[in-house]
Amino acid sequence: TKAPAATLFLFGAHGDLVQRLLTPALYNLTRDGLVGADLKIVGVDHNSVTDDAFRDKLANFVRAQAAKKAAKSDSQPLDEALWQKLAKRISYIEGDFLEDATYEAVAERIRESGTGNAVFYLATSPRFFSVVVERLGKSGLLKENEGSFRRVVIEKPFGHDLASARELNAQILAVMDERQIFRIDHYLGKETVQNILVSRFSNALFESFWNNHYIDHVQITAAETVGVEDRGSFYETTGALRDMVPNHLFQLLAMVAMEPPAAFGADAVRGEKAKVIGAIRPPTPAQARANSVRGQYRAGTVNGEKVPGYKSEPRVARSSTTETYVALKVMVDNWRWAGVPFYLRTGKRMSVRDTEIVIYFKPAPYAQFRNLGIDRMMPNYLVIQIQPDEGMWLAIQAKRPGPTVEMETVQLGFSYADVFEMQPSTGYETLIYDCLIGDQTLFQRADNIENGWAAVQPFLDAWAGGGTVEPYAAGKDGPTAADDLLGRDGRSWHSLA
Ligand code: BG6
Repeated sequence: TKAPAATLFLFGAHGDLVQRLLTPALYNLTRDGLVGADLKIVGVDHNSVTDDAFRDKLANFVRAQAAKKAAKSDSQPLDEALWQKLAKRISYIEGDFLEDATYEAVAERIRESGTGNAVFYLATSPRFFSVVVERLGKSGLLKENEGSFRRVVIEKPFGHDLASARELNAQILAVMDERQIFRIDHYLGKETVQNILVSRFSNALFESFWNNHYIDHVQITAAETVGVEDRGSFYETTGALRDMVPNHLFQLLAMVAMEPPAAFGADAVRGEKAKVIGAIRPPTPAQARANSVRGQYRAGTVNGEKVPGYKSEPRVARSSTTETYVALKVMVDNWRWAGVPFYLRTGKRMSVRDTEIVIYFKPAPYAQFRNLGIDRMMPNYLVIQIQPDEGMWLAIQAKRPGPTVEMETVQLGFSYADVFEMQPSTGYETLIYDCLIGDQTLFQRADNIENGWAAVQPFLDAWAGGGTVEPYAAGKDGPTAADDLLGRDGRSWHSLA
């Protein structure tokens, strides 16, 4: 069903996020009839441009983006008539985020819109989050009247450590209710991430072996082939751990490890996630050092193309010790997962783009075929492929045809592309739509965020005193120390496809 009438204010309208993801998502929502003519979109930023110029800028971007995609696959170029439907509803406010006049102009637009409903989407630099929220509060824009809503969407990074995340939450909750705040983790907009809960909790099979009796360990990987691109100055003070772990990787961990929620609604789902992330065991400083590996890419070759090392990227210090790769071993201290390590890794400039979760099961209890010379039974494992080529498959042993008994690992699985017809999407469609209908299930509650930071804080603290950042050549899957992290437990990383 179509989302209710509202005005969507995009603060930071000239930023990358608005053109690259939010505008295409709004276009797709229009295509699918999920938003209509009564959704007004207002860009807010300090640049001086007319409504027409702003619309043209977005049009040029999405047109070029669609054409580029269409050239590579069988997707469609931009549907101009559809774009016009959306463009008609886009306007612009030139304003400084620190000036009262900006908020007066926002209030004026709401008055003109014919609906009291408004969403303020902070696609700004993080330094403006608390400022904008405070000003929205002060100018009365967050006050909900009978039958209308006021909501704020905040992008990541939500803080840069536990203390700053707590402070930001306190500032937000001083001017609005938790119900009004939608903290984005764009991984939750990915179909396959949402599918984890459906697969786990709608198939009786999985839950019966989803515990430490049958599961040996879990691996969560987010490998990227891109480098730091033009985000050097942001990334220098962020690094792979802050950029990916307390948010995206912990969301994946939570989906895999949480208890079944009492209902499929925002409170219950987020309650269970907060619990499981809160159950990640805080390591001592020595454990934090032993159970983490940091890496930084050097020059190398990715997909056949020669690429520079991290320290030669724009706006990166030549002596930088920022990690572009991190691997961690964490334990979840609860009844279900006691003794089951979760190994997490993420990095830039790795060999392939591959986000996956691999659940390794314990091997068969004994070697049934040992009298035939097979004395090692390969364990089963389940791969949940988040991207690219979304799907799920289970590795099982099968007998290779022939007169002797020989085994081979084969795959039992399904791929999204084979089974479902998927419309092109950015992942932001669901998130924008859910915000408009007021469903917070796929958004981070304050405690989810803080528990995530609390779990990585011991690693940040342990590294603060220095420590090594291991080099790895671009195009390799991280430093060798990351292999040792699993090797010392008698395990190895699932090889990236
Ligand atoms: C962002 C990080 O949150 O996620 C980026 O800031 C990273 O550094 C990106 O590249 C990865 O997202 P995706 O959807 O490409 O896996």
